[in-house]
Amino acid sequence: MVDEMGDPRRVPRADPGARRIAGGRPEVARRPQELAGDRRSSQEIAGDRRRGPRAAARSGACDAPDAGLATDRGARRRDAGSIPAMIPLARPALGDREVDAVAAVLRSGMLVQGPLVERFEALLAERCARRFGVAVSSGTAALQLTFRALGVGREDAVVVPALTWPSPAHAAAELGARVRLVDVDPAEWNAPPEAYAKHADAAAAVVIDQFGNPARPPHFEGPVVEDAACALGSLLASGRPCGSLGVASCFSFHPRKILTTGEGGAILTDDEGLAEELRSLRNHGLEGPGRFRRPAANHRLTEMQGALGVEQMGRLDDLLARRHTHAVALRDALEGHVELQVAAEGARPNHQTLGAILPEGVDRDTFLERLRELGVQGGRLSYALHRLHTLPRPDESLEVTERVVDRGVALPLFPSMSEAERRTVADAVRSTIDTLRGGSDATQGGASG
Ligand SMILES: Cc1ncc(COP(=O)(O)O)c(C=O)c1O
Repeated sequence: MVDEMGDPRRVPRADPGARRIAGGRPEVARRPQELAGDRRSSQEIAGDRRRGPRAAARSGACDAPDAGLATDRGARRRDAGSIPAMIPLARPALGDREVDAVAAVLRSGMLVQGPLVERFEALLAERCARRFGVAVSSGTAALQLTFRALGVGREDAVVVPALTWPSPAHAAAELGARVRLVDVDPAEWNAPPEAYAKHADAAAAVVIDQFGNPARPPHFEGPVVEDAACALGSLLASGRPCGSLGVASCFSFHPRKILTTGEGGAILTDDEGLAEELRSLRNHGLEGPGRFRRPAANHRLTEMQGALGVEQMGRLDDLLARRHTHAVALRDALEGHVELQVAAEGARPNHQTLGAILPEGVDRDTFLERLRELGVQGGRLSYALHRLHTLPRPDESLEVTERVVDRGVALPLFPSMSEAERRTVADAVRSTIDTLRGGSDATQGGASG
């Protein structure tokens, strides 16, 4: 069986025995692995890295890439032919610059939220034409703190598109809000503006730029929160950046996203009061030295993550351009075989996920198994939130969401993809569909993509 969505959450966790480094200036270990109680030498770890993720996993190291994820360094190893090829769904673009930046932070001893996080926030806000950025521990935390800062509470209604990862709905439900799920557009896979009109009494509405595809502004007078978790670098139909819609926008920096800080998220807003409230909510509810405004958790980002974010922002345009090239080629090659997500007129998506709806008659699990046999990882595309027991079932049918979820797959697309990998993906998808439909076996046909 194939992992649900090639489950993006299956990121290797840090060693649970790792010593926690809290505020202040800790004693700095020269070798970062000492901080995690790892007794191997730098050379041993470097050796594991050179031999690849399997060797690292065998030796108990916790830096083996996630299922569905590999780094740029992994890609170079694969090109050298040292690892059996499996093209992953995603490969974070992490290179020597990121490694050096994190190492520099570790040597500095300043590990918790500081100038690099601040710089990352400023770069994000500038990029998305917002006044303020508040970095937090994840995209889910960004949504949760935003709802809380907006005063969403028990019994308030919050409108959320039904097709998505559960975070926006769970974040509202955790505050006791009643989630109202709405169906999505069959071409865009985002909730259409008119879906919000009959929920004028709701306390807030969430629009999602699903898989990086820019949403259209909803017909809703109240506070709008843009879930732009996947949408850094996308442009709305108005020409403005994704992340500039509504009272606040929320981003994720999970390794499956456009840029990554490992885990991480951010909220962007033009509202100074809201930004201040969010900064307090991410930091135990502090409003000044020794003064707590309200009980709140710790959702700060570390300086290591800040360093990653700053480095990744420096290469954002390059990452987006590469994604665009691959997406155009793959979409061309797959046309006629699968149904692809369509952007609203004038909008420009970042192609965070290459989603495809399989034709009738092609069994998805069989398709994904065959794809894997051909060296290509695929996954289920998304979730129908009304089917989760954690959320309420609306009265109306959500048939578009169900169709996309039942027939949708995610396919590999990442900036460091080689042309050969792209061709392999296109050929594998087409030949598998042709075979399962009972047509000709296109593996014999010409390669493209
Ligand atoms: C649309 C959407 N919102 C929110 C999130 C949550 O982000 P994170 O995993 O950083 O908590 C995700 C993650 O996949 C997402 O796809």
